[in-house]
Amino acid sequence: MSFKKLITKRVEFAASHRYWNSELSEKENFDLFGKSSNESGHGHNFTLEVTVTGDIDSKTGMIINLFDLKKITNEVLAEFDHKNLNKDTTYFKDEIPTPENICKVLWNLLDQKISQNKKCTLYKVRLYETEDLYVDYWRD
Ligand code: NI
Repeated sequence: MSFKKLITKRVEFAASHRYWNSELSEKENFDLFGKSSNESGHGHNFTLEVTVTGDIDSKTGMIINLFDLKKITNEVLAEFDHKNLNKDTTYFKDEIPTPENICKVLWNLLDQKISQNKKCTLYKVRLYETEDLYVDYWRD
């Protein structure tokens, strides 16, 4: 019998976004997205959960050192925290910064960094936009 071993780090960050598809008219945008299309955007306190899997190292008793996971997560989030995701980052020029798309972008950035650690891999990224709404992203 084999067991899945997971460890999750939860962090918060604040960011604002606007839902706007430049291929659509103003009316089509507002019909689709309502007040989320307002030009000034709006903000959220997002919660990100980063789950890593791997074997428990017999020397340290850890899948990944939490200091390392925290450092990686903070490095990635530095580009997003207290930013306007549409204007202050380069990731949402062609995609709307919905929680689905933010979660995908964060997965890619986290996966790049965590994959440099040969002993563990990124398993799941969960992004809460609000307490009662979250998105999961993982390799299927
Ligand atoms: Ni929003």
